[in-house]
Parts: sequence; C-alpha cells; structure tokens
Amino acid sequence: MTVQQIQFQQVQQSYNRLCFAVALIFFALSCNDLGKETPIPERPFQTSFKVEDFSSATECQNCHPNHYEEWSASMHAYSTQDPVWFKLQQNAQNAHASEGIELGDFCVQCHSPIAALTDAITDHKNLTPEVMSTLPLQIQEGVTCDVCHTITHLPETTDIQTGEQNYETADFKLYTDGTRYSIIDDPQDNPFHESEYHEGYDQSDFCRNCHNLTVNGLDAEVTNSEWEGSAFDAMGSECQTCHMPTYEGYAAEGGPLRENLHRHYFPGVGTSIVGESENNGLLPAIAEILDGSADVNFFEPLADTVLSTEPLKIKIIISNNAGHNFPSGVTFTRQLWLEVTANIDGDTIFQSGHLNENGDIYDFYTDPEKQYDPQLNVFNTVLYNEAGDSGIMNVSVEDMIWMNDYTLPVSGSRTVNYIIDLPTVVPEGGSNLDISVRLRFRSFPPFLLRHINLIEEVERLLIWDIDQITDSVTLE
Ligand code: HEC
Ligand code: HEC
Ligand code: HEC
Ligand code: HEC
Ligand code: HEC
Repeated sequence: MTVQQIQFQQVQQSYNRLCFAVALIFFALSCNDLGKETPIPERPFQTSFKVEDFSSATECQNCHPNHYEEWSASMHAYSTQDPVWFKLQQNAQNAHASEGIELGDFCVQCHSPIAALTDAITDHKNLTPEVMSTLPLQIQEGVTCDVCHTITHLPETTDIQTGEQNYETADFKLYTDGTRYSIIDDPQDNPFHESEYHEGYDQSDFCRNCHNLTVNGLDAEVTNSEWEGSAFDAMGSECQTCHMPTYEGYAAEGGPLRENLHRHYFPGVGTSIVGESENNGLLPAIAEILDGSADVNFFEPLADTVLSTEPLKIKIIISNNAGHNFPSGVTFTRQLWLEVTANIDGDTIFQSGHLNENGDIYDFYTDPEKQYDPQLNVFNTVLYNEAGDSGIMNVSVEDMIWMNDYTLPVSGSRTVNYIIDLPTVVPEGGSNLDISVRLRFRSFPPFLLRHINLIEEVERLLIWDIDQITDSVTLE
C-alpha cells in the first residue's frame, strides 16, 4: 500500500468508528424514546386569542393557594403595577410618536402578554394605572399563571427591528383548550382543568421570549444569552434551578404530597415601591438568592504596616456567582456599586460610593465631571443612541445602537483600584487605619424616580448589601 492509501485507510477506519459511535448514539436515543411510555407529543398552538381564553390567577387561588400567594408577591404579578414601567412606557411612546413611530405593544408584550395577544390596549400614550384597572383581570395580572401554564412550545428569543418598525415580535406559542402544562407527570384529576406533563418547563429556554431581548440583533437585555454556554448551562443549572427552588408540599389542595414543587417568588432584586408593601415572602427569597451571589476580596492582602509618605494603593476583586452577568436584564437601570471607606482612629479620611443627601451615588449621571467621587466604580451598562446621547435619562432600550458594559461577567470578575491619600502627620506610635468595602445593589437610582415624578416612592427603594470586607493596618 502507498502512504496515501494507508492514510486513506486510517481516515476510513476512524470515519467508520465515528459512524459506529454516531449510530450507537442514535440507537441509544431511539431506544430511549421507545423506552419512554409517552413519546413527546406534537402539541398545537394558537394564533389568535380572546381574553376569555385565559383565566385569572384568582381562579387558581382556591386549589393552588401556595402558588398563588408566592406568585402574587413576585415581580411577575407586579409587571403591570410598577409605576416606573407606566411612566417609562408613556415616555417611550411619546418620544416616538413625535417622530411618527408607533411602538404599539412593545413594552406591553412582555409585561402583560394577554393584553398584547388580544390587542386590548388602544391608546398606549395614555396607558396609566387607572386605565389598567379598568381592563379585565387577566390583563391586569401581567405575567399571570396562564401566560406560563398554557405554553406548548419553547419560545424563541425576542429581536425587534427598528428599521421596519417591527416592535411586537415576542414569541408566544400557547394553546388554551383548558389544559395546564408543567412538570408533574402523574397529575391528579380535578374538575377545573386537564393537566399535562411538559418536558420543557424546567429548561432555561422557557423564559427566553421575555428574558432575552435584542435590538436589531444587538444585545440589549440578554439574561438567557449570558447564561447560554456558561458553566451553569454545562452543569444543567437552569434559570428555574436558582429562581424556582424546590420544596416538599402540595401542588394543589387535596392532591398528593410531592417532593419536587417549585417556589414562584422569582426573586432577583426588584421589590414593589407601591404603597405599604409587605412583599409577603419575596424579601426573604431575595435575601436568599443574593446571599453569596458575589464575593469581594482584597486582590492581595494589605501590609500590616503602611507608611504615610505615599498614598495607599488597594486593589479589590469582585467575583460573580450568579448564573449570568451581574446585574442582568435591565442592567441600565440597575445600580451595583462598591462603597469604600477608610477611617483613621474613627475619622473618615476617604470615601467612595457613599450616598449624597438625596440618596444618590455620585455616578456618571449625577456627577459627570467625577468631581465628588472620582474613583467610583458602578457595575452596570450605559446605553447610547444614534444621536450620541447616553444614559437612562436620554436613551430608551429600543433606541440603543451601542452599550458600554461594566457588569460583572458570568463566572467572571472585575478588579478595581483605589488610591487613598494618607495624612502626612502621624502621631507617635502610629494610627489605626481601618478600611471597609461593601458591594451594594439596588433596582433604580433615586434620581430616576424623582425625574419621573415618583417622589414618595424613593423612600421605598431598598439597598441590598451583597458582600463586605474590612481590614486594619497600622499607619506610621
Ligand atoms: C378545582 C381545583 C383546581 C383549580 C381551580 C385549578 N387547579 Fe391546577 N391542579 C389541580 C389539581 C388537583 C392538580 C394536580 C395536583 C397534583 O397531582 O399534585 C393541578 C395541577 C396543575 C398543574 C400541573 C400540571 C402538570 O401536569 O404538571 C398546573 C400547571 C396547574 N394545575 C395550573 C393551574 C392554573 C394556572 C389554574 C388557574 C387558571 C389552576 N391550575 C386551577 C386543581 C386545580
Ligand atoms: C411573559 C414574559 C415572561 C416570562 C415567560 C418570564 N418572565 Fe420573568 N419577568 C418578566 C417581566 C416583565 C419581569 C419584570 C416585572 C417587573 O418588575 O415589572 C420579570 C421579572 C423576573 C424576575 C425578577 C427580576 C428582578 O429584578 O427582581 C425574575 C427572577 C424572573 N423574571 C425570572 C424568570 C424565569 C426564571 C422565567 C422562566 C421560568 C421567567 N422569568 C419567565 C417577564 C417574563
Ligand atoms: C446559579 C444560579 C442562577 C441561575 C442559573 C440563573 N440565575 Fe438569575 N439570578 C441569580 C442571582 C444570584 C441573581 C441576583 C444577581 C443579579 O442580579 O445578577 C439573579 C438575578 C436575576 C434577575 C434580575 C437581574 C437584575 O440585575 O435585574 C433576572 C431577571 C434573572 N436572574 C433571570 C434569570 C434567567 C432568565 C435565568 C436563566 C437564563 C437565570 N436567571 C439563571 C442566580 C441565577
Ligand atoms: C413565569 C412563568 C410562571 C408563572 C407566572 C407561574 N408559573 Fe407555575 N410553574 C412555572 C414553571 C416553569 C414550573 C415548573 C418549574 C420546574 O420544573 O423547574 C411551574 C410549576 C407549577 C406547578 C407544578 C408544581 C410545582 O410547584 O412544580 C403548578 C401547580 C403551578 N406552577 C401553578 C401555578 C399557578 C397557580 C400560578 C399563578 C398563581 C403559576 N404557576 C404561575 C412557571 C410559571
Ligand atoms: C422582551 C420583553 C420585554 C420588553 C419588550 C420590555 N420589557 Fe421591561 N422587563 C422585561 C423583563 C424580563 C424585566 C426584568 C429584568 C430584570 O429584572 O433585570 C423587565 C423589567 C423592567 C423594569 C424594571 C422593573 C422593576 O421594578 O425592577 C422596567 C421599569 C421595565 N421593564 C420597563 C419597560 C419599558 C418601559 C418597556 C418598553 C420601552 C419594556 N420594559 C419592554 C421584559 C421586557
């Protein structure tokens, strides 16, 4: 045999081995399919909807009291109560209308899918909480039970095309013949609805139409894309694994005790800023998911003793443990920042990331010249539009052509430096220099709420402290 023939034979052999392996895989797969009692059914979906096709969550309440209570406290139930959403929706509508552009159900499609699917909203520019309260309950409930539990096909990601004024593109493949789907494969019968096991309900793709938005193909709010291909994806840690932790209990009144039920609080960072909110159970769920979600550390240990002859340099590393970037989603409204304080014998000699009398940090928006807090680090995104404007006061997500991304990447970290000027005169025997660093997180900056005239609501904004480190050195 010639060299070429040998090579060919080797290639042929490895090709054959490959074919064999592939055949084995297919064999295994098909055996698997055969082994299953019910093969994956061909499921229908609907292309037009009436409001009555869906039930209100209140109809599920009697039989599913736990699910109802948890969902009621969640941001999904809040998606059409949020005063920030109403104001920003109106602002976006007005800004585009003045250029002859119709946004239509752009903001409505994910926040109240039933309103969008039934074309219930006619005057988007005047959509206020008062108008909302006149619409059918199913619509007022926003991301309600039936929006999720009538899903028959896993959705595609949402891309809007501004050139074609194609803003209503969110993918909903639902079927409303009364069947409710999810992960119970032996559901007990009940007089209200048929139940069916659906293999897609524990998958991240399930959340993708609403939690992954691109604008002309550009990443805008892309929690799913951040997660896809990450170590979490590889380990089978889906959105539901972290956001719908399991517990033992009853899926329905009178049903059997089950070990793998799923919490419906969907904790992230958001909490209601309307009225006196107790946030029934949502607050502990947020505290739990945020616990350990990021770590703050000194990049290298501080020396025991430092000399006051030169400024102290400290390097801090912040690592992300969430299943996607931190923050994620509406990253341009979120504030995740580092607060650094240095005290000498109790007197503050340096601070960054502190709040002013309005509760704001001195960021890009409130302190563009970086005068009051030149070393501030905020981990979020800043959107830019075609005219070169930037930031949440000027640019709505559908207008973005570019974003600066300062978020903590998934499974990644950022390191930041601080330079602290030390006093030149140090008392005999030295001083104690205490350094403390906190990673802080909140939904909105107070100035945004004031800007859209939500004044009292500012008081109800919560700050979550994610992690904190302190160290002391002797200053000589
Ligand atoms: C008359 C009582 C009753 C009402 C009303 C009711 N359900 Fe159910 N539902 C049940 C029972 C019972 C089960 C089965 C529980 C089990 O087997 O553990 C069930 C199961 C389910 C399942 C699991 C399906 C599966 O196979 O995985 C979903 C999802 C569901 N219901 C959603 C809803 C929604 C949404 C509503 C309101 C629109 C609703 N249910 C109203 C009694 C009810
Ligand atoms: C029909 C659209 C839709 C679907 C499907 C959906 N979500 Fe959401 N989700 C939203 C909207 C809209 C909000 C924000 C509501 C608000 O705060 O006004 C939200 C909020 C959240 C939050 C809270 C975020 C925060 O900042 O506190 C989490 C967590 C979340 N969703 C997780 C999920 C997961 C996990 C899935 C899939 C199992 C899912 N969602 C499916 C629309 C959806
Ligand atoms: C390994 C656990 C984990 C997985 C997997 C995970 N998340 Fe999260 N998620 C978190 C943590 C922790 C936070 C809080 C930190 C943050 O905001 O990024 C969070 C926050 C969020 C928020 C609020 C983001 C913000 O900053 O406003 C949304 C929305 C969300 N997750 C949706 C999802 C979706 C959708 C998926 C699946 C594609 C998913 N999560 C997968 C842990 C996880
Ligand atoms: C944002 C989507 C979403 C909303 C809204 C939602 N669910 Fe679910 N629900 C799910 C998903 C996803 C699962 C399965 C989670 C898994 O297997 O990881 C589930 C599971 C269930 C189950 C099966 C038992 C369990 O706990 O796993 C029942 C019953 C149920 N939901 C009822 C309800 C009711 C009632 C409401 C409204 C009060 C509701 N759900 C709102 C997504 C949703
Ligand atoms: C593709 C679906 C989608 C579209 C379109 C959409 N949103 Fe959202 N919105 C979401 C999801 C999902 C979240 C939660 C993400 C997170 O917490 O980071 C959210 C969160 C928000 C929040 C934060 C709520 C809170 O209390 O933390 C506001 C405000 C908001 N959206 C306003 C709007 C406005 C205004 C529009 C239209 C200009 C819009 N949204 C269009 C899906 C969407």
